[in-house]
This record gives sequence, structure tokens and C-alpha cells, in this order.
Amino acid sequence: MDVYEAVISRRAVRGFTDSPVPKAVLERVLTAAAWSPSSSNTQPWNIYVLTGAALAELKKRATERVASGVEWDEREYDMYPAAMTAPYTDRRSAFGRERYSALGITRDDWEARQRAAIANWDCFGAPAALFCYIDRRLGPAQWADLGMYLQTVMLLLRSEGLHSCPQMAWSQVRTTVADAVSPPPELMLFCGMSIGYEDPSVDHIRTGRAPLEETVTFVE
Ligand SMILES: Cc1cc2nc3c(=O)[nH]c(=O)nc-3n(C[C@H](O)[C@H](O)[C@H](O)COP(=O)(O)O)c2cc1C
Repeated sequence: MDVYEAVISRRAVRGFTDSPVPKAVLERVLTAAAWSPSSSNTQPWNIYVLTGAALAELKKRATERVASGVEWDEREYDMYPAAMTAPYTDRRSAFGRERYSALGITRDDWEARQRAAIANWDCFGAPAALFCYIDRRLGPAQWADLGMYLQTVMLLLRSEGLHSCPQMAWSQVRTTVADAVSPPPELMLFCGMSIGYEDPSVDHIRTGRAPLEETVTFVE
């Protein structure tokens, strides 16, 4: 698979089969992803990979927790700024509309939206997941390094025939994740990522993108 194909075929997949992902494949992907760039080669990613009984237990605890209505964990970082403005708010609303209408869920059907959201903590059925932590003393440039690393992982997964879904939703139950992986105190959870083979029977949307001239300026 060439890089263009990997980039274009990657999407946030929200329906996986239970076919296990061989550990050797995950090791190959994560070994290659370590070649991602980072400022001064700081490599600020700290990754925990869960599969098998460990992931099954975490999914059970997280979904039960969310379904029971126990309050989410206090935020360690803001997923979005409180005063987000256009065009980001418009793009976020358009995504929500597309995602829920593809699932046949109306705007005011809060319960159906909750059910769809809970699938996050079941990893959308995926048999493998990684959890990406960052040392809380690091700053915005190192967070950007995490993004480059995670995209590299997702593209390499495509070349292995796998799909993924990055998920900040896991930060909302970060203490449940911490119980499973016991990170040192200086680490904070950025996001999880579900990993597996796509279940083709699950309907999905192909999200759009802003036209090039909205986000790119050529200066000649
Ligand atoms: C850092 C990050 C966190 C995300 N968190 C979630 C999440 O918690 N749940 C989810 O279903 N999708 C999540 N997504 C997926 C985005 O919604 C998705 O990437 C975006 O809508 C673009 O769609 P595409 O990836 O299918 O092209 C996340 C993506 C990123 C990059």
C-alpha cells in the first residue's frame, strides 16, 4: 500500500470484528512508528497496549461505569477550548450531524446518542487498543509530537490491513484506564486508540474535509 492510499483509506472506524491482532504485527507497527519525528528527538510518547483478558476487563469496567452514570473523571486537559469559534464549531457540528444521521439518530434523541457514545468504551468491538500518555510537565510542542506519532501508527496499521479509531473519550474515564495499566504519576492520558479489522457490516460515514483554499495558503 503506498502512502497516499494509507492516508486516504484511514478513517475513524467504529465497528470491528473480534479477529485477534497478532502481537507480532503490533510490535512491527510500533517499532516502525518509533521513527516518527519529535522536537530534539524527545520521543514524548508513552504507550500501553492492551489485548486479551486485560482489554476485556477494562472494556467491561469502563462501559459499566459510564452506563451506571457515575461521574466522569475530572478533566486533566481541555478537549476543546471553552470559547471555540467558527470555523471549528461549524465543522464540529457538521461532523456530529453526519455521524448521527448515518446511525439514524435524531438530534434530540439523547438516549440513542448515549448508546452510540458508550460504544467508545467497548473499543467499538476491537480486540486491541493502545493508550497514549504524555509526561504532564511537557508542553504544546510535545503534544504535537504525539499527534505525528499516532498518525504514523494509524498509517502503518493500514499497511497491515488493520483499521483504528483514536479516542479522547478514554480521557473521561482515565482513572479506570490507570487501574488497568498503572502508569507512573507523572504521566497523563491523552487518548486511547481502538485497533482491529473492520467489520464491513457496520454502516459508516466518510467525513468530508474543508476545501484546500480554506486551510492552505500558497505564497509565491
Ligand atoms: C485526538 C483525536 C481524538 C478523537 N476522539 C474520538 C473519540 O473519542 N471517539 C470517536 O468516536 N472518534 C474520535 N476521534 C475521531 C474523529 O472524530 C475523526 O478523526 C474525525 O471526525 C475525522 O474523521 P475520519 O478520521 O474518519 O477521517 C478522534 C480523533 C482524534 C484525532
